[in-house]
Amino acid sequence: MNIKKQEAAAHLEVNGKKMDLDVLCGVENEVAMDGLQLRNQTGVINLDPGYGNTGSCVSSITFLNGEKGVIHHRGYELKDLAANCSFLEVAYLLMKGELPNPDQHRQWTELVRDNSYLGPSLQELLNHYPVKSHPMSVLASVVLSLTGFYGDLGHETYYQFDMDVVRLIAKTPLIAAHNFRRKRGMNYIYADPSLGYAENFLHSMFSKRLPKERRKIMATALEKLLIIHADHEQNCSTSTVRMISSSDANVYAAIGGGIGALWGPLHGGANEAVINMLEYIKMRDGDLEAVIKRAKDKDDPFKLMGFGHRVYKTYDPRAAIAKEVVDSLLKDLGVDEPLVDTAMELEKIALEDDYFVSRNLYPNVDFYTGIAYKAMGIPKEMFTVMFTMGRMAGWLAHLLEFREDENRRICRPRQIYAGKPIREYVKMEDR
Ligand code: ACO
Repeated sequence: MNIKKQEAAAHLEVNGKKMDLDVLCGVENEVAMDGLQLRNQTGVINLDPGYGNTGSCVSSITFLNGEKGVIHHRGYELKDLAANCSFLEVAYLLMKGELPNPDQHRQWTELVRDNSYLGPSLQELLNHYPVKSHPMSVLASVVLSLTGFYGDLGHETYYQFDMDVVRLIAKTPLIAAHNFRRKRGMNYIYADPSLGYAENFLHSMFSKRLPKERRKIMATALEKLLIIHADHEQNCSTSTVRMISSSDANVYAAIGGGIGALWGPLHGGANEAVINMLEYIKMRDGDLEAVIKRAKDKDDPFKLMGFGHRVYKTYDPRAAIAKEVVDSLLKDLGVDEPLVDTAMELEKIALEDDYFVSRNLYPNVDFYTGIAYKAMGIPKEMFTVMFTMGRMAGWLAHLLEFREDENRRICRPRQIYAGKPIREYVKMEDR
């Protein structure tokens, strides 16, 4: 790993015990104190609820600078990748460290294409979920069930693991599309090997009823959206995937857990919550002030969805790309979506309001993506599934990196206990 140890160590004194901590410096000059021996040498732990200031690993996949709004993957700026690459190229870059050359690209896309099917037993499994199930719950549990189809309950060989990666990238969109169609009483559609990744997903969702020209426009937008979702270093779901994997659980168990983490409205589920919020505003005749007032009220749990981020203290660069995607998608489709105007007005008011300005709250990636999915005819309850399709590449890249990490250990945080002190057992009849 490309990490330098600074000459001067950090000095710590606690409870009369002194310790020197190594100071480590990353490629982009991020600095960390190595606290691994902190408890051994001082008896003290580092308390950091929500891990806001805890580095859980050294990683070479993605760099973020939340103050400056910078994001790059393996050294390539996200905006350049989104402007020039397909999603599968970026997935390859995240996992292998370099953009694929033409041969590697052909092999990789062929592997994904050849695994783009759902076998009869998998289809049968999908047919047994209650029709009302949320698509994220179906996706998470079907991914976990893939262990039964392809895994050997853990301890995969490296070849198996590579194939697991391909299967997850290839089958996730098809599982999502199957669930979408089944809920609407429509039959499963087989993938079309002549189509690219995003276009195939749209074909599997909407069949030939979606005219080719519109499908192409949507696929161009979707490839970009998948790319901006693809990785975001140690976010909640990626950390979950790494954590589950640290117990040597199999890849499907780890990814299933990641899907569960992404589902929450404070994380990937925010894209669905944003549209609910914008529709709520529309229902109230565009009363933006009321929503802003609620978001600022400390006694109200309501938050401005799609705003704020643990890392970004400036405009989320992914939100800027998503906004451009929305603009050209709507223009190319010839669609007028009034929610865009509501979103832009809301953004303008929030960015001028002292509450949001003083807390550095800006639109995040989820603020505009839902509008793009809505314009494509993808139902709200599937928005986080769309996020999952992109983030799958990042999760798998982190799993690959984690498995190769010589410093990997089971993830096991500590705590400060705040319960009852030790006391005598009381028999049932005496309680
Ligand atoms: N609306 C209103 N107030 C907010 C918002 C918001 N969206 N986000 C943060 N704040 C306020 C907090 O109440 C807090 O105020 P205080 O200092 O007066 O107590 C302050 O800003 C700091 O916020 P934290 O909650 O400490 O920030 P944290 O890093 O823990 O949370 C999070 C980040 C979860 C993203 C938060 O901003 C939020 O809930 N946003 C809305 C949900 C959302 O859009 N999630 C998607 C994030 S992107 C992604 O995961 C893909």
